[in-house]
Amino acid sequence: MKLALLGCGTVGSEVVRLMRTRGEELAARVGEPVEIVGIAVRRIDRDRSHLPVDESLFTTDALGLVKRDDVDIVVEVAGGIEPARTWILTALGQGKSVVTANKALLAEDGPALAAAAKDGGADLYYEASAAAAIPLMRPLRESLHGDKINRVLGIVNGTTNFICTAMSTKGTSFEEALAEATDLGYAEADPTADVDNYDAAAKAALIASLAFHTHVDLKDVYREPLRGISATDIASAAAEGRVVKPLCIATREADGVSVRVHPAMIPATHPLANVNGAYNAVFVEAESAGRLMFYGAGAGGTETASAVLGDIVAVARNKRGGITAFPPEAAYSDLPVKPIGE
Ligand code: NDP
Ligand code: HSE
Repeated sequence: MKLALLGCGTVGSEVVRLMRTRGEELAARVGEPVEIVGIAVRRIDRDRSHLPVDESLFTTDALGLVKRDDVDIVVEVAGGIEPARTWILTALGQGKSVVTANKALLAEDGPALAAAAKDGGADLYYEASAAAAIPLMRPLRESLHGDKINRVLGIVNGTTNFICTAMSTKGTSFEEALAEATDLGYAEADPTADVDNYDAAAKAALIASLAFHTHVDLKDVYREPLRGISATDIASAAAEGRVVKPLCIATREADGVSVRVHPAMIPATHPLANVNGAYNAVFVEAESAGRLMFYGAGAGGTETASAVLGDIVAVARNKRGGITAFPPEAAYSDLPVKPIGE
């Protein structure tokens, strides 16, 4: 099984490393070896000598790599809307299964990508796109499909949770905490996406779309930025026995679905108050399953690569078995999504 890797930064370099160190186990799980045959990057001259791959694999021609006849699976961990959308649509159009961590693109164009997967008879898996290492998308996409989810509540951005935690536990300033989160590889290439809550809004749209079997558009997610939270806000919350947390709340209401992301003061005794650093946690309230909690690393190269590898094994096994997962997005109901403000 031949794989093209698009992007070799925080996440991609860990995918390379883990595929090398776990090669034999992965081959056993898939039923045949999975080999990286090309790695697309933007800066070909960047030093990547620490990575356990031949440097001849690197290319700046991502589209050419996607189109290669010998490529079976495309893994997109570059980020951004274009050219990632073109790469993915091209791969799916050629019947090549795609694994992506790109929540920004999925939130903008998920239904079109799902339709391309269905038409191309290929898989589109995206476990790492929300809550990084935490198995959440496939439980929503598969395990909970027999249930009726009424509410999803959680913390879905590692960077903003890291900032809130550092400000309240160590007295770190907002700017220092963001710089630290960036150094640790948690923040997006443009950290505006994190601190202005666009990243959380994209994840909220994806999560709510899967949870409620409808299409939640990014523009229908109510969003307030975390940027602007001050030491005074953190201290005022603490004086009332509360902590500031970046929340994502998606609710099924009588007249439709409502989705919002914003910072909130929550009681220090609430389970989400003790989710710290770059960790995420998501409560799913389902009619039959009851209250489920998903908890773990919400950002980070190795942690995210774990979810990407899980998807690689899944799509590779599907390919070997000659099957594809019917994309849930292709079967959305018409449950209305309430416009912001209603
Ligand atoms: P980085 O910025 O660290 O890496 C991006 C990689 O993509 C780099 O190797 C870069 O090349 C390459 N790249 C970017 N644009 C192009 C292009 N036009 N052509 C070829 N290569 C390109 O990002 P991350 O690894 O942090 O994130 C990757 C994706 O994973 C994003 O969608 C992000 O949202 C998502 N994600 C990230 C998580 C994290 O914790 N970091 C967690 C979950 C998801 P070069 O090396 O030459 O610059
Ligand atoms: N920048 C994102 C975060 C990466 O901090 O949550 C994980 O999606």
